Parts: sequence; structure tokens; C-alpha cells
Amino acid sequence: MSKYEFTMGKELDLKVEQEKTLATPCLRSNFILKGMYWTMDFLYGKEVSLPKVKVLEILARYPYWAWEKGGYDGLTGLYARTTDPDRSKVDHCRHYVWLGRYSQDNEELHMLLAEDLIGQKGIELSWLKHYLLPRIMAFVYFCLSHAIFFFSPATSFYMNAAFESHAEHEYMKFAKAHPEWDNEPVESKYFEFYPRQKSLADLLRRIALDERDHMFHSMHEYEKLTGKTITG
Ligand SMILES: [Fe+2]
Ligand SMILES: [Fe+2]
Repeated sequence: MSKYEFTMGKELDLKVEQEKTLATPCLRSNFILKGMYWTMDFLYGKEVSLPKVKVLEILARYPYWAWEKGGYDGLTGLYARTTDPDRSKVDHCRHYVWLGRYSQDNEELHMLLAEDLIGQKGIELSWLKHYLLPRIMAFVYFCLSHAIFFFSPATSFYMNAAFESHAEHEYMKFAKAHPEWDNEPVESKYFEFYPRQKSLADLLRRIALDERDHMFHSMHEYEKLTGKTITG
């Protein structure tokens, strides 16, 4: 049983949650994450924008893919043998597969929603910043996130918690910076798969809460592995 209060599926006052986020400090990021934030700010601007959100969400699923792959590698090791595998180890691996898949699906929807909103608003994207660079960054992040999880799952969970904390704060700040979006109804073809929201600002707040849930999952996994709590 987790001590964290996950938000998905709950009826919450999203504006209250926004203020809660902004009153809570971000988790501390290491030099690798700080380098990533700096690169994103340099290439896409310090202020959050829908095109920047799309690039962030392209990258966001890679650590979860690494967790899923790590779980599968573990299952292969447990089942490619002639004796019965240890049930607790099997459950551990299957949990990584489940959590990795579930989180990737959620990040994928954030990416699809951002792309849909960019299209609806007629925002033009450049070939360099929205075709070439995201592909290069995705390849680098793929290699990095898989290597970190392979050598140190605890580091992967710690870094992901900090990354998600950063994302939660950025998206809540983005919603707060655009009070006019509280009165802008939002529609998307992806509401078939994602909780419908009444305004664009609420959609950004809901996505920010997903990032908070991702942070909690990462913190929980870190604690299970190390017995230590991430405090800030
Ligand atoms: Fe996301
Ligand atoms: Fe996330």
C-alpha cells in the first residue's frame, strides 16, 4: 500500500491542486537533468509553450520504456531455466512491466493532446526544432534512460521523480500564466481515451497532476529499492 495520494480518476478541484503544486518546492534535479532543462530552455524558450510541451512529451516516455524492458529482461532470466522461478521475483518484474506500460500510455496521450491543440490553434512548427532535433534528443534519451536503469534502477527512479516534479510545476505555471484559458472550452479527438476537461486550463492542470502521479510512482519505487525517502 502506497502512502502517496494518487490523483487519476478522482474528482478534484484542479485550481486548488494547482496552488498546492506551486506552494511545494520542486524535487532536486541532478546535473544530467539540469543539463536537459537548460537545453530545452535554450532550444524552445524558457517559457512553456504547446510546441515545447509536445517535445517534452515525446521524451517523457523513454524512462518508462526502460523500466518495462528491464522487467521483461528479468522475466526472461527467470523463465529461461529449467526450474520454477521465485514468485516474488516474478511479481517484481511484472510490476515494472505494468508500471512502465501504464505510464508510457499516459505520456503518449499527453503528446497526442499537445499535437492536437497545436493543430487546432494553427501553430506552425519548424523542421529543425520539431522534426530533426526531437529525433536526435529521443535517441540520446533512449540510450541514456536505458543505460541508467540497467546500471542503477534506483538512480532511474530518483531522476524520474525529479523530472516529473519539474514537469508538474512547469505545467501548473503554464496554466496560471494563461487565465484566459479558464474560459476557453477544449475539445480533442483524444478525449475518447483521456478524461474530458471543461477548459484548456483544466486540461493542462490534469496533465500536471498526471506528472505528479508519475513522480509519486517513481518515489515509491525508489523507496522500495533503497529503504530511503526522497525528501527534496
Ligand atoms: Fe507527460
Ligand atoms: Fe510524466
